[in-house]
Amino acid sequence: MAKTDITEKVVSLAKRRGFVFQSSEIYGGLNGCWDYGPLGVEMLNNIKQAWWKEMTYRENVEGIDAAILMHPRVWEASGHVENFTDPMVDCRECKARFRYDILLEGMSEKAAKKMKEDLKKELNFDDDKIKSFIDDPDNSEKVLSTVNCPNCGRNGTFTKARSFNLMFKTYIGPVEDSSNIVFLRPETAQGIYVNFLNVKEAGRQKLPFGIAQIGKAFRNEINTKNFLFRTREFEQMEMQFFINPKDDGEWFEYWKEQRINWFVKHGIKKEKLNIHVHDKLAHYAKAAVDIEYEFPFGWGEIEGIHNRTDFDLKRHTEYSGKKLEYFDDQTKERFIPYVIETSAGASRSFMAFLINAYDEEQVAKENSDGSKSTEVRTVLHIHPSLAPVKAAVFPLVNRDGMQDIAHNITEDLRKNFRVFYDDSGAVGRRYRRQDECGTPYCITVDSETLTNDSVTVRERDSMEQVRVHKDKLTSYITEKLTV
Ligand code: GAP
Repeated sequence: MAKTDITEKVVSLAKRRGFVFQSSEIYGGLNGCWDYGPLGVEMLNNIKQAWWKEMTYRENVEGIDAAILMHPRVWEASGHVENFTDPMVDCRECKARFRYDILLEGMSEKAAKKMKEDLKKELNFDDDKIKSFIDDPDNSEKVLSTVNCPNCGRNGTFTKARSFNLMFKTYIGPVEDSSNIVFLRPETAQGIYVNFLNVKEAGRQKLPFGIAQIGKAFRNEINTKNFLFRTREFEQMEMQFFINPKDDGEWFEYWKEQRINWFVKHGIKKEKLNIHVHDKLAHYAKAAVDIEYEFPFGWGEIEGIHNRTDFDLKRHTEYSGKKLEYFDDQTKERFIPYVIETSAGASRSFMAFLINAYDEEQVAKENSDGSKSTEVRTVLHIHPSLAPVKAAVFPLVNRDGMQDIAHNITEDLRKNFRVFYDDSGAVGRRYRRQDECGTPYCITVDSETLTNDSVTVRERDSMEQVRVHKDKLTSYITEKLTV
């Protein structure tokens, strides 16, 4: 299967089977925003639940759910007002707007080489000097002076780069003036920092301890692209782990390993994961790595692990006047903790889990005349713990009371799981419908059920069937879902 086809196929399946729809589709859609459908919301909730369990069902991590709207000073303290920007250039002729670095990346190798050589000659710079000159958005007008606009094709029409802040602004209360501006949070992390003392005291926590949160974040991204990968509204699953600064290296390694293991435990193929070490660091970080997944369009970050030092707590201390520090009653030390952050995108992880699960397999088929052939089976090998529907229940035929038994089994299983009942079409077709949306277990009531209360359980990936007593189904499935 061609790599480029996979995203298209997954996007199409996601819509057809109710995982993800375009936001406001009947109005032509809203760029960079997506809606989760009946299966999508189940799977997204399962991902968030799996993360929450992993991160907070431990002694030293507490959970919170902070408000999306926060005091505007928070974003001054965090550096987002000043630094959370992209350099943008406009074409003076056609008015198209581009991100400066993306424009450079998009140039053909030949054009980029020529531009670099011309500039080197004109400015009499060596390779290193010319690279930093080109990278600096302040030089954009000079750098782009011979470059064609990708939209209208005209030459030398670009303006100087201007900073464009990615935070969405709105107003609190009825008066729309600058004193009432609030921002939609671009990360959930700040809601954790400002609650550091509250949680420490309420949870009677001692260092090292963490605070975890799942929630929406908003960024006015210039280029939204690749389905759920870069969107304007998305969800983050973040944990900030507060430590003594002397232990930062050790905890950074610990959380990096924990987080990679989490993805692997939940079915992401190991060979599809990569650790990218940052050499260019965000304004708050001392060390940073990305956990990358190999999407069909290339490697893309799904989670960042950052050593944010004492940057955030120090800044909030400075801006709020409230001392966000820690007193160690054993060593009698007083200090501002360092923070190791694990920051995953729930929506990006969702996309990685979906693409990772997608497969088209050739399987044997028995035709109505008894002859044999093969057919393509589209299947989502989603880990059972994340699968939106855990089991489907079928009566083999719609007679002899099999429907009633199947309904009763369905109702019983629904006390614990999301279960789908289906009595229409051949059983083979019912299996295919469930394979396509990743249902790990299909339970069939057949004539043997009428004699000994056992049913067949067909496993999605191996397609093997076992007989299980109908009263044991809940424990059978529960065991399989446990990670
Ligand atoms: N608190 C640190 C922070 O927000 P980040 O690398 O900007 O760091 C963390 O974002 C994660 O959030 C990313 O790894 C990604 O999974 C997700 N994310 C960031 N921007 C996103 C966007 N525009 N659309 C979808 N997910 C995004």
